[in-house]
Amino acid sequence: MAAPMMRKGAALRSCLERSCGLSRRSPVFYKFIRRCTTQASNSDTVESSESEISSHADNGVPRPGVDLRRFSDIQEERRQEALRSVLVRHVGKATEDELTKFCSHFGEVQNCFTYGNQELYTLLEYKSRGSVHSLLNTSHFRSILEILPYRSRLLCFRTSNWMDNASRRPGMGEMTADQKFSILATKLCAAQSMEEQMQILVRETQLTEGETRLRFLVCSLVEDAITGYFPGCIVHPFGSSVNGFGNKGCDLDMYLNLNVEQHRTKKKSFPRMEYEVRTVPTERAATQNLLSTVGQSLAEFVPSCRQLQYILHARCPLVKFMHEASGIQCDLTSNNSIALKSSELLNLYSRIDPRVRPLVYAVRHWARMHHITSSMPGGWITNFSLTALVIFFLQYTDKPVLPAIDALKGLADKTDTCVLEGNDCTLMSDLTKVPPSENTDSTDELLLEFFEFYSNFNFKNCGLNLRTGEMQEKKNFDALYIQNPFEQQLNLSKNVSMHQLEKFVQLAREAAWMAEQPDFLQPEVGSKGGVTPWGLVSILSGHNRRKKRLMDQKEFTPIFDSIKSGNSKRNVGPRIHLTEPAKFKSVLKSAKSRADKRTKNGNRR
Ligand code: GTP
Ligand code: MG
Repeated sequence: MAAPMMRKGAALRSCLERSCGLSRRSPVFYKFIRRCTTQASNSDTVESSESEISSHADNGVPRPGVDLRRFSDIQEERRQEALRSVLVRHVGKATEDELTKFCSHFGEVQNCFTYGNQELYTLLEYKSRGSVHSLLNTSHFRSILEILPYRSRLLCFRTSNWMDNASRRPGMGEMTADQKFSILATKLCAAQSMEEQMQILVRETQLTEGETRLRFLVCSLVEDAITGYFPGCIVHPFGSSVNGFGNKGCDLDMYLNLNVEQHRTKKKSFPRMEYEVRTVPTERAATQNLLSTVGQSLAEFVPSCRQLQYILHARCPLVKFMHEASGIQCDLTSNNSIALKSSELLNLYSRIDPRVRPLVYAVRHWARMHHITSSMPGGWITNFSLTALVIFFLQYTDKPVLPAIDALKGLADKTDTCVLEGNDCTLMSDLTKVPPSENTDSTDELLLEFFEFYSNFNFKNCGLNLRTGEMQEKKNFDALYIQNPFEQQLNLSKNVSMHQLEKFVQLAREAAWMAEQPDFLQPEVGSKGGVTPWGLVSILSGHNRRKKRLMDQKEFTPIFDSIKSGNSKRNVGPRIHLTEPAKFKSVLKSAKSRADKRTKNGNRR
């Protein structure tokens, strides 16, 4: 089935180009081809895509190496681990062994993660929660005169000779971003293929098991502090800490859930008795008051929470702070349940196909290196929007790698039903129901196709709809329009300025151009034995970029004018030559075989 469909697509393309003068680069052309090939394939097979999905669902598609549990179950297990854990600072010469031996007096220690340079910390998980209570009951305050006796699961452990404070480990100091990249680049350059480079990037930059646990523990410590006011509240991590795309050192987005929904839906068995409460003018005012109070108590009582900043007038009010013991920058929000659902959606996509994570990591890293994304408020593209761009590309590509959200909803069962703030946020949770993609492109091919796709996207007139996996007519003048998947009347990239969008397109074009250069996959051995950046490293570091800037400066200006005017065909003067999507693979393959030959000749590195 796959091969004839491809041939039909190719024939249609050249026919359209010849007879209608339509450029292959036009999204309209792309969409037309896609529609035609889909219809053709549907007429060949009686089965609709819906029935294909259900037939696969019956078989249960295996996904080796993927955690198939529900997102909510994974989160709950992590939460329970965090509740059985303590975070301990080592004072003086105290070692991990000494600490573990001491803590074992209170129960079986299940896991230990030690980190830090100048100061050592250990995250220690007990087998049962009772052991944590025993440990806390034995711990004491060093003095009760000049402190507020706040009991938390952040402790410090001293050696028997605890006055000896002089032997702290020498600090290695924080590496600069450049130093970190140079270490990473060396590892990437030593890979055998660009695909392997993308795998290495994930391995080297993703959150480790210890870091993930630490994030859940920090949420749990903050929750301890708030539980006094609001018994039963839960602090959930969301964003990149849990969506499958987290990087070492990313911020920790927290959502304080007061479990109001539970009270709303609770059956009123004694309707005459109710809580006496204070009233507030609006829900937003309630959130602002809550965060302001919580922030103040974190600053006053909770050890390690420092540098509090109140950003209460933002669209989504939040409190920022630094959790010093973990070194994690935290953003605490409330009344933000849809954001947690968005993280579940991204997490689901990260597990559906093994190519998604390497692709998103590469694009996110590329964007960070070129300052396209920023966590600062402003016109930048956020990592969330950028990930949505990758997902849309994978939904829209000739043979979709990822299903549309509506298709995922179609696979949901009764227990998946979810309505948040009046929005239907239902998603399926059983990953084995999603049929595998027929797209066989390699991860590096997809990365280059991604750059190609957005180099030529008609952002002026088209918006992105992840629910249908189709383009949609733009409803306003926002530079970038990505329909919010759960609050469908909103644009999730409303903040993005035209300038930042232009920068994104320019850099995508440069990346695509780089991939066409003869030395893209052929590293040259430098005169001093060093290796010239190649493959992913060229794209990340912008190697060759200056050369390209000088060559093409004149050609970019009319292209950006055309993005603004929405007529990328007519207004463009001399066009940059970019390889057509179909040719990308052959460019990559011939570059690969040239590189292979070099390796065989012993010319490589
Ligand atoms: P990092 O940059 O690694 O922290 O990635 P992230 O995915 O955690 O992004 P970020 O911390 O910027 O945002 C956290 C969450 O806030 C996301 O998962 C979204 O739910 C929400 N969010 C972030 N940016 C946007 C945006 O531009 N629009 C909307 N609607 N929500 C956003
Ligand atoms: Mg984040």
